[in-house]
Amino acid sequence: LVVVLDFGGQYNQLIARRIREANVFCEMLPYNTPLEEILAKKPKGIIFSGGPCSVYGTEAPRCDHRLFDAGIPILGICYGMQLMAHQLGGKVDRAAAHEYGKAELMVLKENALFKGLPSPMQVWMSHGDYITSPPPGFEILARTGHTPVAAMADPKRKLYGVQFHPEVRHTPLGQEMLKNFLFEVCGCSGGWTMTSFIEKQVEVIRREVGDKRVLCALSGGVDSSVAAVLVHRAIGDQLVCVFVNHGLLRQGEAEQVQRTFSERFNMNLIYVDAEERFLNRLRGVTDPERKRKIIGEEFIRVFEEEARKLGEIEYLVQGTLYSDVIESGTQTAALIKSHHNVGGLPEDMELKLIEPLRLLFKDEVRQLGTELGLPDEIVWRQPFPGPGLAVRILGEVTREKLEIVRKADAIVREEIKKAGLYRDIWQSFAVLPSMKSVGVMGDGRTYAYPIVVRAVTSDDAMTADWARLPYETLERISNRIVNEVPGVNRVVYDITSKPPATIEWE
Ligand code: XMP
Repeated sequence: LVVVLDFGGQYNQLIARRIREANVFCEMLPYNTPLEEILAKKPKGIIFSGGPCSVYGTEAPRCDHRLFDAGIPILGICYGMQLMAHQLGGKVDRAAAHEYGKAELMVLKENALFKGLPSPMQVWMSHGDYITSPPPGFEILARTGHTPVAAMADPKRKLYGVQFHPEVRHTPLGQEMLKNFLFEVCGCSGGWTMTSFIEKQVEVIRREVGDKRVLCALSGGVDSSVAAVLVHRAIGDQLVCVFVNHGLLRQGEAEQVQRTFSERFNMNLIYVDAEERFLNRLRGVTDPERKRKIIGEEFIRVFEEEARKLGEIEYLVQGTLYSDVIESGTQTAALIKSHHNVGGLPEDMELKLIEPLRLLFKDEVRQLGTELGLPDEIVWRQPFPGPGLAVRILGEVTREKLEIVRKADAIVREEIKKAGLYRDIWQSFAVLPSMKSVGVMGDGRTYAYPIVVRAVTSDDAMTADWARLPYETLERISNRIVNEVPGVNRVVYDITSKPPATIEWE
């Protein structure tokens, strides 16, 4: 295990991911994690991340000084290196100009970090302060045109620092440097793989659960599906999955869930057809927030009813990911829309949580899903909101509109898949506004709904850009929708990014 101490830099998650790509398990901890807690994890190495502060700032995050004497190899990156220099008696100064972008790194001294790497080589800089003289015991390993101490080390104490960012792709050999640190300096074995992760988790879950029963709210999304299959592998029929079909799903989705989990994995799946209930409660409701609220409440109610029927249950599985874990606590984002988390924990049920994915990133969850035998349609499914098609039908949700948006959505998905774009696009779907426009079909005038096609690229849904779909793909989508979906006579493409728009229309 390697620990990444988080000093708030923008590339921090990348550091963790690069380490895992080297098949070394790592955890990211806040910079102020108590020393004892860090040592208790028995890390083979520690990486100090970059961060936005200057070591001279009043709020500058520090680390526990004793960490440097713990005998654990440390690599400081950018701010992490400056902090190391500052705390160990080196000199850090404000640079005349911020250095940002590509730089040529000249290696000055043979060392473990750059073993087997050429000089000069390209690296990526992004800093305001720089080190003018390294702390006692340290030697300068490399420089660039503007940065006299671009890398430094005290090989005896196994303390290393780099001013540039080895974790970004703009440092093409950065991964090799990280590997050198992990394998040459820390002595990591590089044996962490998804197979070993599965074995370990299965063991952990078995031990934790014993002979108790476990409940899972399956949505058909990647996270809950992978979590469920993993827990099932550990405890078999002690796991009961509840899948609530609220009638707001996409074409073929409910069937796919049943096929996959009941038939293929032979899991204990309770399928609840609650379409009627949800549609009744949504009748006449047009306000988006009210729709969300009703769906959220009704979902919990149905889920609870089913859970109560099952009798004694001790645990609930949730598909929480590492990015949620890292971000929670620091995030104070304003409420833009009340996102209801399907599978939200009914408060009075007092279930203990099992979160087998809480140390994994999304791409690792996909890898895990594939390893566990889940089909590509689930592993590579685009995110889908809990309230489903209800937030893609503007205004009142009716069966007629559901039918229209479902058919149009299926065409959008199909064509984007055919064009080979499905995995590159964050989300792509159809929206049905509650308005009609005039058109002409054959010799007759039509007065029918338009369909809005929405396709965005994004990394995390916090921001998004509209996808530059090829005209041919847009044309095929448009043609097929007006020809194949009754009640639609016009197709438009949403070319707004987020912000100012959101990904969904409601
Ligand atoms: P917006 O529309 O806010 O969406 O840009 C950001 C991401 O969240 C998804 N989304 C939801 N997910 N319950 C969910 O579980 C919701 O109520 C909900 N609303 C939006 C949306 O699809 C996008 O990925």
